[in-house]
Amino acid sequence: MYVPGYINQILTVAETAILAIYEVPLRIGIYPGSFDPVTLGHWDLILRASKLVDRLIVAVLHNPAKSPTFSLEERMEFLSLLFKEHPYIEVATFHGLLVEYARQKEAQFIIRGVRAFSDFEYEFQMALTNRKLAPELETVFLMPKEENSVISSRIVREVGTMGGDISGLVPEILKDRITSRLRSRTY
Ligand code: PNS
Repeated sequence: MYVPGYINQILTVAETAILAIYEVPLRIGIYPGSFDPVTLGHWDLILRASKLVDRLIVAVLHNPAKSPTFSLEERMEFLSLLFKEHPYIEVATFHGLLVEYARQKEAQFIIRGVRAFSDFEYEFQMALTNRKLAPELETVFLMPKEENSVISSRIVREVGTMGGDISGLVPEILKDRITSRLRSRTY
C-alpha cells in the first residue's frame, strides 16, 4: 500500500516518541561511504540494511583533503532523492573519525558491503581498526545482489565520463542527473 511521505514522517515521529517514553532501545546503524556517486550496489545494500535496524543513517564522508567528482551537496542530494519515501533512512554527512560520529549518533552498528574477495582486506582492516577504537560498535557486512556486486562508483564515473550508458549501474531516477554531470566534466 502506498503511504505518502509526510504520513510516514508523522508515523515515524510518533513511533520514536512512544519508544522513547517506554525506553525501548532503538537499533541504529550507520552505513558510511564516499558515494561518489551513489550506485545501484549502494542502493541495494541500504535497503537490505534498513531491514535490520530501526534507523539507518547513510553517512556521506566529507573529507576536504580529497577532491571527489561530485560535491558533498550533490552526493547528499542524490541520496536524499533516492530515500525520500523512507522515513527510517536518514541521509547525513560526517567528517573525522567514523567511530566518533557513530558514538555521537548512539549507533550500535556500522554496516559495510563486500562485493568480492578484493574488498575483504581493506574492509577487514577498517573493521578491526574501528573495533580497537570503539569496542562497543559492531561492523556488519552485507552482500549485494550478484548483478550489483561488480558495480563501483569508479566504474560509474569512468563509463559516464567516456559517454557510455550507465543504466543498470545507478538507480534509474538518478541516471540522467549523473550522466549529464559526468558528461560535462572537463579535463
Ligand atoms: O565508500 P568508501 O570510500 O569505501 O568509504 C570509506 C569510509 C568513508 C567508510 C572510510 O574512509 C571512513 O570511515 N573514513 C572516516 C575516517 C575514519 O574513521 N578512519 C578510520 C577507519 S580505518
